[in-house]
Amino acid sequence: MNMAGKTVLITGSTDGVGRYVAKRLAAEGAQILIHGRDTARAKTLIGEIVRDGAPAPAFYQADLSSLAGARQLADAVLAGYDRLDVFVSNAGIGSMNGGPERRTSADGHELRFAVNYLSGFLLARLLLPLLKAAAPARIVNVASLGQHPIDFDDVMITKNYSGSRAYAQSKLAQIMFTIDLAEELKGTGVTVNSLHPATYMNTTMVRAGGITPLSTVEQGGEAILHLVSGDDVADKSGLFFNGMSEARANPQAYDALARQRLRKLSLELTGLSVAYG
Ligand SMILES: NC(=O)c1ccc[n+]([C@@H]2O[C@H](COP(=O)([O-])OP(=O)(O)OC[C@H]3O[C@@H](n4cnc5c(N)ncnc54)[C@H](OP(=O)(O)O)[C@@H]3O)[C@@H](O)[C@H]2O)c1
Repeated sequence: MNMAGKTVLITGSTDGVGRYVAKRLAAEGAQILIHGRDTARAKTLIGEIVRDGAPAPAFYQADLSSLAGARQLADAVLAGYDRLDVFVSNAGIGSMNGGPERRTSADGHELRFAVNYLSGFLLARLLLPLLKAAAPARIVNVASLGQHPIDFDDVMITKNYSGSRAYAQSKLAQIMFTIDLAEELKGTGVTVNSLHPATYMNTTMVRAGGITPLSTVEQGGEAILHLVSGDDVADKSGLFFNGMSEARANPQAYDALARQRLRKLSLELTGLSVAYG
């Protein structure tokens, strides 16, 4: 896909691999909507993009640890644009960001589930009209190889909590949502895929975990860009990629009943049950 003139929203693009993808797509002539929490970091990125000769991207500040924050971001995009060619759901916290202990979101949900999965679920659903208006359009969910099955009796992990389990559960939830949404979007021209970009890229979340990086941001960025604009994946949907290659996710992702349970729960938690029943 030629990205010139395409409108692309990338959550979590003030840092890490999202920042890299934003710069690359801006250089290709896309109209980038940057998102993050930190205005200073956004200003620095906008300055770099402009210095590289691309138009200044719009910046949307929103804290995705609250569903109101996700709604506010969606509302701002819906108010400003009548089409969205690509939505990259990338914002996330790792297993150690802010400490490994259990914390909750503004809505009382387990924090990693809320930031990494539920906010992206809500954003994708609210932005669907813009994506459908731009079809062919794409949703890219940045997940991970770190995946842990969801215990539907304790989704908020009140027992046996660990940051890595919570992170991995949130990442599998993204992958399950990808498959579920792809089925729903058949025939609309909107595709949705998920991926593990690369293992232990040198980013804030990896450094916060005290982990020695194994990959570069460029490597993970290329894998995301492949799903954003690769011609070979134009008609692919509902898939999980490990880097550049299609891969199998945790078996729970292929359990239709589990996906249905997750959809029902997510619609309830985000207040969308009425709209989507
Ligand atoms: N790094 C890896 O090796 C690796 C491997 C597999 C998958 N991934 C996935 O790749 C994605 C990007 O990770 P990264 O490594 O680039 O991480 P990063 O450098 O820590 O960047 C995370 C981004 O998410 C944003 N973010 C975090 N919490 C937020 C919140 N509550 N509300 C709004 N935005 C928030 C951050 O915004 P601020 O600038 O405001 O902090 C930042 O822009 C994540 O989904 C991650 O799970 C990464």
